[in-house]
Amino acid sequence: MLDLITAHVAVALVCAAVLTYVIPFLVKGYRIRSQLHKLPGPPGHSMLWGHLKIMGEIMQDVPLGVHQHVIPLRMKKKYNIETDYFYIDVWPLMDPLLYIFDPDVAQQVTVDHALPKHPTLTDFLIPLAGPGDMVSSDGSHWKKWRTIMNPGFAASHLMSLVPGIVDDSLVFCEKMAEHAEKGEVFRLEEDATRLTVDIIGKVTLDLKLNTQRRPNEMITAFREQVQLVPNEGIFDPLAMWRPTGIYKRWRNSRIMIAYIGKVLDERFARAGAVDERPGREKKQRKRVIIDLALEAYQSQQAGSETGKGHASRQPPQMDAEFRQAAITQIRTFIFAGHDTTSSTICYALYMLQKNPDCMAQIRKEHDEILGDVEGTPQAIKDDPHVLNKLEYTMCVVRETLRLWPAASATRAGEPGFMIRDPKTGEAYPTEGCLVWVPHYALHRNPAVWGESADQFDPSRFLAQNESQLPENGWRPFEKGQRNCIGQELAILEARIILALTVRSFDFQTAYDCLDELKNDGSHYAKDKRFRKGRQNLDGEEAWPILRGSAKPNQGMPLLDHQGESLEPPN
Ligand code: HEM
Ligand SMILES: *[C@@H]1O[C@H](CO)[C@@H](O)[C@H](O)[C@H]1NC(C)=O
Repeated sequence: MLDLITAHVAVALVCAAVLTYVIPFLVKGYRIRSQLHKLPGPPGHSMLWGHLKIMGEIMQDVPLGVHQHVIPLRMKKKYNIETDYFYIDVWPLMDPLLYIFDPDVAQQVTVDHALPKHPTLTDFLIPLAGPGDMVSSDGSHWKKWRTIMNPGFAASHLMSLVPGIVDDSLVFCEKMAEHAEKGEVFRLEEDATRLTVDIIGKVTLDLKLNTQRRPNEMITAFREQVQLVPNEGIFDPLAMWRPTGIYKRWRNSRIMIAYIGKVLDERFARAGAVDERPGREKKQRKRVIIDLALEAYQSQQAGSETGKGHASRQPPQMDAEFRQAAITQIRTFIFAGHDTTSSTICYALYMLQKNPDCMAQIRKEHDEILGDVEGTPQAIKDDPHVLNKLEYTMCVVRETLRLWPAASATRAGEPGFMIRDPKTGEAYPTEGCLVWVPHYALHRNPAVWGESADQFDPSRFLAQNESQLPENGWRPFEKGQRNCIGQELAILEARIILALTVRSFDFQTAYDCLDELKNDGSHYAKDKRFRKGRQNLDGEEAWPILRGSAKPNQGMPLLDHQGESLEPPN
C-alpha cells in the first residue's frame, strides 16, 4: 500500500516536472529554432543543434580562449554571409545572439533607440561591482548615478588631474628602465595595469594606492576577481558554479567592500566635521568620484530633512543603503577605469613597435612639441593643454582603439523592436536576443573601413583625412546615452603615457621567450589553456583574450632594449 502511494507520488512529481519545466523548455526551444531558421545567419542551421555545430567548427580555426569578438567577422567571411548583422542560435547555452557590425544598424540599437542592457552583463559585473552598478543597470537608477558622476569627467576637472597622471607614469617609466637594465622578459599588461590602477585610485578615491611599488589587498582582490567572472560565455557554462570560485568571489567582494567602505566612512566623517563649523564656508572639494557620491548623499539628506522640517545637520552614520550603492559605483569605476585603458596602452606600444614608420613619426612629433625627453614631464605639468597639440599621438590612440577595442556593447532585444537593413529597409526582430555590437568586428569590417581595414594607419585620423572616415564607424566607447563616461580620461591617460615612453624605450615582443615566465605566478602562467594548441590568430601573436576586458594574450611579453635602436645606425 505504502509502495503504491510512493509510486503515485513519484509519478505525480515527474508529471509536474515535465509540465513545469520540460514542456515549456521544449516549446521555447522549438519557437527559437524555427524563428532562427528563417533569419540571416550562417548556412546549415539545424532544428536540433541550432548553430552550435557551426560555432564548434569556427572555433577550430582560432586559438583556445580567444575573445569571442573576433568571431562574427570570421563567420561572415567563412560562410559568405551577406549582411553585416546576423543571428546565431546558441540556445540553450545562451539567448540567441544578434551580432551587429554595421554602423547604421549599431546606431539603431544604441542611439536612435537605446535598448536596455542584457542580464548577462549584470552577471558579469556583480562579482566585480555588486548589484546595481551603473554600467549594467537601466532606467532611473542608472540615470541618477550617471548624473551624480558626470561632473567627475568634465574637461576642466580632467586637466587638473594631469600632474598626478604624469607622476604615476614616471613610476611606470622607472619600472620599464629596470626591466631593460635586467634584460628580462616581462608582461607589459601587468605593469600597465598597475599604472592605470594608481591613476584610477586618485580619480575615484583621491588615494595614492602606489600599486606599482607595493601590493594592495583591494587591487589583488580585483585582479583575481576578473579571472572568476564568466569570461568564456557559452564555452564555459559552469564558470559560476565551481565551489572554489564561489568562495573566492565572496571573499574578494568582502575585501573590496571593506577597503572602499573604510575610505568612504573616513571621508564622510571629515566632510561632516567641515560642515559643522559655524560660519565657515564649505571646504572647496575636489571632484573626485568619492566626493561626488558624498555630495549627492548630502543633498539627498538635506532634501528629505527639509521635507520633514528637521534642522539640516549631518547624521553621524551614513544611511546603509546609500553607503552600499556608493561602494558599488566606486567599484564600478575602479574596474571600468583601469582594465580597458591598460589594454589600450599595451596595444598602442605594440603597434608602434610593429610599425617603425609610425614610431618615427610619433617621436618626431614629441621632439617638436614637447622638447627634450628630460624636460617633458615638467612641460606637460606646466601646460597640460600642450597635449592637445599632439595630433599624431591622438591618431595613434584612435587607431589603436579601432584595431584593438577593449570593450563592446551588449543589449537586450525587445518585443516589437526591429532593426532595419540600411540597404533593403527590411525589418528583423530583436526580441529574446542578446544584441551584441562587437566593436572589434565593426572596426575591421572592410565594408566600413575599406580594404585597409586590418592595417595600422594612424594617418587616417589626421584632420585632412577626417572627411573620409566612415560615418559612425569608430565607436570604441559606443555612442548614445550609454556611451563611456570615462572616454576623455582614458584618452588623456593614453596620450600622457605615450608622450613619456615612446622616446625612452624600445620594446620588442617576446612571445618566443614565454618559457622564462612560466613560473612568474601570474594568472597567464597558471591558466594552462592559453598554452595549448594554436598560438596565433592569422599570424597575430598578441590576439585578444577576454579577462574582464579584451587583453593581449599572455599579457604581452616584452623585452625592452632601452635606447638601442635610438642610436644612429653605423
Ligand atoms: C580605453 C578605455 C576604455 C574603453 C575602450 C571603454 C569602453 C566603454 C564602452 C564601449 C562602454 C559602453 C558599454 C555599452 O554600451 O554597453 C563603456 C561604458 C562605461 N565606461 Fe568605459 N571605456 C574605457 C575607459 C573607461 C574609464 C577610464 C572609465 C572610468 C573612469 C570608464 C567607465 C565607464 C562607465 C562607468 C561606463 C558606463 C556608462 C553608462 O552606462 O552610463 N571607462 N566604456
Ligand atoms: C592622410 O593624409 C596624409 C597627408 O595628407 C596622406 O599622406 C595619407 O596617405 C592619408 N591617409 C589616408 C589613410 O587617407
